[in-house]
Amino acid sequence: MTGSDTTDEEAETGATPTTGATLTDDDDRTSEAEPDDQSTGAESTESTTSEKPVRSAPGGRRAGGADAGGSEKTKRFYNELGWTETGGRPRTVDLFGTKEDGPIRVELHHAAMQRIHDAITLTGSTIDLLECGCGGTPELDLLDLCSHYTGVDFSETGIRRARRVLAGSGVDHELHLADVCDLPFPDARFDAVYAARMIYHIPEPEAQAQALQEMLRVTKPGGVIVIITANPFPILFPERSLKRLIAITPVLGPLANRFRPPPPLPYQPMTLPWFKRQVGEQGSVDLISSGLPSTAFNQRVSEFQGTGRRLWEAVRWIDLTMPRVAVWLGNYTQITITKH
Ligand SMILES: C[S@@+](CC[C@H](N)C(=O)[O-])C[C@H]1O[C@@H](n2cnc3c(N)ncnc32)[C@H](O)[C@@H]1O
Repeated sequence: MTGSDTTDEEAETGATPTTGATLTDDDDRTSEAEPDDQSTGAESTESTTSEKPVRSAPGGRRAGGADAGGSEKTKRFYNELGWTETGGRPRTVDLFGTKEDGPIRVELHHAAMQRIHDAITLTGSTIDLLECGCGGTPELDLLDLCSHYTGVDFSETGIRRARRVLAGSGVDHELHLADVCDLPFPDARFDAVYAARMIYHIPEPEAQAQALQEMLRVTKPGGVIVIITANPFPILFPERSLKRLIAITPVLGPLANRFRPPPPLPYQPMTLPWFKRQVGEQGSVDLISSGLPSTAFNQRVSEFQGTGRRLWEAVRWIDLTMPRVAVWLGNYTQITITKH
């Protein structure tokens, strides 16, 4: 499997998890039913390997006068399903992963990882790295850059798996059970922060903004933050754009939701201009493609047969020849913030 295994427009998979919740094809909606749940606010911390003591966070910093934090529903999903395993593989791979690994997918995965490497090494070649939302799949492809690796996630099951995955890595590391909306680290602690496919599982925009501010806070001036996020309006996938438009339209969104079961996993991708506004004067923002296809495309279109192969070749051509235009066309975007 290529490294984008756990990409998760949960809305698109049509897979049926074993908890009884169904991931349907049309769950792309705002998570309006998801309350801000302070109980997820880094209520406990855990440190491994380096056994560094970390403070127990009080449960979410205040953003705009309100408490904010990650979602209890997201945490439950990853604790009880996503990071549990079948045959040694996390269930997220079966739910959201690609069903085949052909040469085009492998090439595109390498290209995406190379862009992440290029961005992170803007800050140096040996890096004190923080990964936010590492879950059970800490990004091993970045360990060669790390003088020290720190992983944060609020899923106990994810952190437990991450500990096993990192055990033989030979890289100095530590893991913390915490909410990224309230990071248990001092200001300017890290050279670089990496957060892949995590931020859109925080349902409230205020809490996403808070997570972003926390990442900025713990990054050194001159340091880099790399976020892999979903493009809510991918031009090449009009069906996804339409679903999102319906989801965020007042009256229409709630009305559509009344006819569908609630999604098992909150999904709230913010627009790319929104991210730029949140960063403001604090840093410069660069956008580049991080994977064009949607999960549905990945899972259903084979690169080994006629039409599918031609579609994948088109995806490859767009992604490799114009990765900065592809940001607006495709499903996943790499946001690189260089902190001033
Ligand atoms: C789709 S997984 C991504 C895992 C990994 N980054 C990857 O790309 O394979 C999302 C992860 O983000 C974590 N997460 C979501 N919201 C969080 C929050 N507010 N604080 C900490 N972790 C969070 C979930 O527990 C889950 O492990």
